[in-house]
This record gives sequence, structure tokens and C-alpha cells, in this order.
Amino acid sequence: MATPLLIFPYNGNALEALDALGDEFELIGFIDDTAEKQGPCAHGFGVFPRAALRLWPNVKVLAVPGSAATFIQRRRLIESLDIEPARYATVIHPTARVSRLAKVGHNTLVLAGAVITSNATVGDHVCVLPNSVVHHDSHVGSWTLIGSNVTVAGHTRVGENCYIGSGSAIKDGLTLGDRTLVGLGSTVIRDTPPDSRVAGCPARQL
Ligand SMILES: CC(C)(COP(=O)(O)OP(=O)(O)OC[C@H]1O[C@@H](n2cnc3c(N)ncnc32)[C@H](O)[C@@H]1OP(=O)(O)O)[C@@H](O)C(=O)NCCC(=O)NCCS
Repeated sequence: MATPLLIFPYNGNALEALDALGDEFELIGFIDDTAEKQGPCAHGFGVFPRAALRLWPNVKVLAVPGSAATFIQRRRLIESLDIEPARYATVIHPTARVSRLAKVGHNTLVLAGAVITSNATVGDHVCVLPNSVVHHDSHVGSWTLIGSNVTVAGHTRVGENCYIGSGSAIKDGLTLGDRTLVGLGSTVIRDTPPDSRVAGCPARQL
């Protein structure tokens, strides 16, 4: 039987997560803080205020807030939901490939065609968008967003609460500091200190 699920908030990541539920999860509805978004939504599911989390205490939760503009608030926003770790779902699209030798944390969303290869570790509260690859022995820190078509090469450490823009490549063996933002289509060939904003080929500080 499919596991009932609530998704927070009602944003683009949440809509894309719908495609990843397969037979494993059954969506009950979305949760969103914005009053104007609440009510019936275009996709046949309700959008509820946070009170619904308490109304259905046994329903699993997937929390996927954040974009390039708002990623820095992801950690605080997710923590403000006050959900115990065991209640979070890990949602992996049926066409994504996660190695038996890889580890993926709770409240992590891995979308279509993404590949997490041998010995890679992906933390909690992470989104990996379509067709991205996290190669062997790499680590993606908790609360990080990886856009689509991103390559994280082997033995790389992506810090916590980072944003890696779509189409970017991170050279093998690098360390990206916590809260690093990598702009769309960048090639990162040097380590980044925490709180960096880098973009371009090769990526330079913005
Ligand atoms: C990096 C980013 C956040 C910067 O946005 P911003 O703060 O609004 O910056 P601006 O657009 O004002 O650009 C500032 C400078 O950085 C440069 N720049 C911005 N993004 C860049 C990129 N991806 N690659 C190379 N240079 C970039 C601009 O050309 C500009 O340079 P200039 O000052 O010499 O003219 C944004 O461009 C970006 O790449 N966002 C990620 C989007 C994404 O991945 N979307 C996919 C969602 S799945």
C-alpha cells in the first residue's frame, strides 16, 4: 500500500516531486504558508496551512523549499516545521539510480534520471534535480539544492545549505564551503570558502 505524503511548500520543487512518487507514495496534499496559495490547487490536490501537519500526525512529510534566491533560508524554514526525522520521507524517482553502496538521508528528493554512484553520500533535506550525477566518494551536505544536469565529480565535498545551479560541473576532489552558491552553467575548478557566490567557466567570485 502507498505511503500517504504531505509536501511543503507548494512550489516548483514540489510539483516536480509529484512525478517521483511512483507507487510508493500517495499525495494527500501540499502545505504552504502563503494564504493566497491555500485552497484547491490546479493539480487536484488541496493546499493546506501548517495546521494540517498536526491534523494528520502519521502522514509522512517531504519538505522541499528553496530556489537560487531563497536557498539560504532552507535550513531555518525546514527546522521551523518541527518535524521529527523519522516522519520525513526520502523520495527517489523510479528512474533515478542510487547505488547500493551510496547513502541518502531523510527528506531528500532525487528526481528523474539522477545518479548517485558508489560510495557517495547525500545528507538530509537535499534536492537533486533531474539528470544530475553525484560521483563516487563524494558527499553532498544537508540542506543543499543540486539543480538539474549537474556533475559532482569524485571525492568532492559540497558543504551544507549550498545551491548548485543547473548545468554546472564541480571538479573532482574539491571542497565547497557551506552556503556556497554556484551560478547556472558554471565550471568550478577551485575550492570555495563558506558563503561564496561563484559563477562562470571557470567559476570566479561574483
Ligand atoms: C548566480 C546568480 C544567482 C546571480 O544572480 P544575480 O545576483 O541576480 O546576478 P546578476 O544577474 O545581476 O549578475 C551579476 C553578474 O554575475 C554574472 N553572472 C550571473 N550569473 C552568471 C552565471 N550563471 N554565469 C556567469 N556569470 C554570471 C552576470 O553576467 C553579471 O556580471 P557583470 O556584473 O559583469 O555584468 C544567477 O545568475 C544564477 O545563475 N542563478 C541560478 C539559476 C538556476 O540554476 N536555475 C535553475 C533552477 S533548477
